[in-house]
Amino acid sequence: MFPVQRPRRLRRSPAIRALVRETSLAPNDLILPLFFSATLDEKKPVRTMPGVFQLPVSDAARIAKECAALKLGGVILFGLPATKDDRGSGAYDPEGPVPRAIAAMKDAAPELLVITDVCVDEYTDHGHCGILRETPQGMVVDNDATLEILAESALCHARAGADVVAPSDMMDGRVGAIREALDEEGFTETALLSYAVKYASAFYGPFREAADCAPKFGDRAGYQMDPANAREALREARLDEDEGADMLMVKPGMPYLDILAKVRAATVLPVGVYNVSGEYAMIKAASAAGMIDEERAVLELLTSFRRAGADFILTYHAMDAARWLGA
Ligand code: PBG
Repeated sequence: MFPVQRPRRLRRSPAIRALVRETSLAPNDLILPLFFSATLDEKKPVRTMPGVFQLPVSDAARIAKECAALKLGGVILFGLPATKDDRGSGAYDPEGPVPRAIAAMKDAAPELLVITDVCVDEYTDHGHCGILRETPQGMVVDNDATLEILAESALCHARAGADVVAPSDMMDGRVGAIREALDEEGFTETALLSYAVKYASAFYGPFREAADCAPKFGDRAGYQMDPANAREALREARLDEDEGADMLMVKPGMPYLDILAKVRAATVLPVGVYNVSGEYAMIKAASAAGMIDEERAVLELLTSFRRAGADFILTYHAMDAARWLGA
């Protein structure tokens, strides 16, 4: 009859495997999240994320040069302000840690892409991603009142020199509001990466320690997406695209590869994925316990995001992975 089909012929040697490999992974695909503090003089380890630190702004220039030397795709900045209030006004303070870090990084390594997270949860005393309003139904996060603050925050980052602003709050209409505010002030070249599809996830736990932003009451299920929903992800992606997002993101990563593949198929915009803090903590804990090989596990995981359709990956493993990839 027929000769036996032998796909293993294409796995015989590193050379032939390299030839037929369908997915690539390079340092340039990776974006490193960084936490800058207004008050620290020295870097401070994040207990739940081994290898991750809250950083003083005075470290920004050095880190920018390291990231540029590793040829990372970019960095995304988060801020820890000196004080918080109920409106999150630190989110648009030009003297805050994020604007200061942007300026230092662009000065030290102009070629490094600097993205900023735009949200108020690090800046509000209650820890929610928007302004609160008392209603007969209790406290709610006031969508439309929050939009002004998000737009102010994005403008503040653009003025400091950010290349890309990335709203992560999940308020309705924020992409349009931010785009309009940027354009009005002449920042037509500042790109907008939307956290378009962001789930209410248990995997953000360690981040909330890193960025000191756990909600003081309630949870984020009233604005972040229900993990059970997939069609809704396509609606969120389409709305943000219509409002003028330049790039879309799916978050978290590992539990949502199906969503990533669906969003990839539904848009021609670049799509990123956020390999979040809880995913990082799991890999770190399992490898520290000798249960998995960290390097192999991380490279396999990052490759899986690329295979599922991600153009780029926000990951705390970025520097290690870039070194393992031979940068
Ligand atoms: C909100 C924001 C969060 C993360 C990124 N931006 C936290 C949240 O929504 O609760 C989580 C990132 C991670 O877990 O690594 N500003």
